[in-house]
Amino acid sequence: MKADFLWGGAVAAHQVEGGWNQDGKGLSIADVMTAGTKDRPRQITDGVVQDAFYPNHEGIDLYHHYQEDIQLFAEMGFKCFRTSIAWTRIFPQGNEAEPNEAGLLFYDKLFDELLRYNIEPVITLSHFEMPYYLVKHYGGWRSRELIDFFVKFSLTVMERYRHKVKYWMTFNEINNQRILNNPIYSFTNSGIVYEEGENKEEVMYQAAHYQLVASAKVVAEGHKINPDFQIGCMLAATPNYPYSSRPTDQLLAQSEDEKQLFFTDVHVRGRYPQRVLNEWQIKGYQIDQTEEDLAWLAQGKVDYIGLSYYLSNTVSSSTEGERLGDELLGDDVLVENPHVPSTEWGWSIDPVGLRYYLNLLANRYELPLFIVENGFGAVDVVTNGQIKDDYRISYLREHIIEMKKAIELDGVEVLGYTVWGCIDPISFTTGEMKKRYGFIYIDRENDGSGSLARSKKQSFWWYQGVIASNGENL
Ligand code: BG6
Repeated sequence: MKADFLWGGAVAAHQVEGGWNQDGKGLSIADVMTAGTKDRPRQITDGVVQDAFYPNHEGIDLYHHYQEDIQLFAEMGFKCFRTSIAWTRIFPQGNEAEPNEAGLLFYDKLFDELLRYNIEPVITLSHFEMPYYLVKHYGGWRSRELIDFFVKFSLTVMERYRHKVKYWMTFNEINNQRILNNPIYSFTNSGIVYEEGENKEEVMYQAAHYQLVASAKVVAEGHKINPDFQIGCMLAATPNYPYSSRPTDQLLAQSEDEKQLFFTDVHVRGRYPQRVLNEWQIKGYQIDQTEEDLAWLAQGKVDYIGLSYYLSNTVSSSTEGERLGDELLGDDVLVENPHVPSTEWGWSIDPVGLRYYLNLLANRYELPLFIVENGFGAVDVVTNGQIKDDYRISYLREHIIEMKKAIELDGVEVLGYTVWGCIDPISFTTGEMKKRYGFIYIDRENDGSGSLARSKKQSFWWYQGVIASNGENL
């Protein structure tokens, strides 16, 4: 492993910061999502309604605990820390002429504190937290006007932090908006609530196009602010395996992969793959796309590919295979993979899939990769003040081993590895607290009770050893 490999942890502003209405912050889409569970979906309410519980309002209050938290990251030896800038702290409604200075100041303090410990900030510009105002007044990313709002926000923060932040990413898990049957994905990716009877896929492609143009503009203009910036995209990396050696299963797995990778294709190559253009023509989709848009796409190619990796999918083109009937993905070709176990939340555990997909991405795109999310959501039990999360250690160990094989044996270039939810965050899909990911435990329950005190889990010392040995002591 290279000496400058970026070991660290990752979170997103809305899942940890809290302070949802402090210092001029506006209402974000995460602020109107209630708490759910694995079996009870989070509700998206019409604004903030009385008597509903919104777990992200308080998060884990990193807004006020950031010094203490960063000190703990430093103690683990973090080389980098990935978080996002909450758009609504900077532009509370999203369409203001001037940014909110108090919001900008918060991130100045946060980045200064990280840099004091030589921890490199890695910043996502859009991580499921766009201004709710833009949803209500513009229909989210249905609207072309969103391009300018997002570019303005992005360039404002890039300008402001040009000497503090080098690594940027535009849209978190941009490809998950392809999951059309679960409303949470269109809402969090794009601020879109589908209307009865409309063609969801066509709307999705339109929103994605505007985001891809916005991303390309940010890449092109961001490089002018600081030519040293490394600006990447961010992909939810989920391999699709064929259930059997039946050729139609192979073809189905490939087409499911292509559906996900189209976003990265555009980010990396600066143009649409022919497959998608054909699809639009065959299905009669009318996508608003100008010559100028296409010129931007060609100009704004990303420097690296950020990715999250949690699980793999298995797909079947026949009636064979046990259907997952997946609440989350709602896709009827998904079947259980008999060769891999699952977490309590039904996510498959497949470390080898990480090596497989790193190779696939590296071969397809020939760009550096950055694993900006990988982690294990589980219930942690506190016994005599201690948390023995050996299950988390073993999940992370197995994934790091496969990542190292990809790097050292297969020659894949990986810039770094940040463990998702390094300090217990609010779960994105369920809004729960008890689906924990961290090395640092937060005393907070699903209903919001608890002192918010921080304590170290067993994995804290394990990861400290991993970083200190640059991945040797696993
Ligand atoms: C990714 C997101 O989808 O997975 C994170 O980028 C999210 O925001 C993470 O938290 C894990 O998902 P969950 O639902 O277990 O929190």
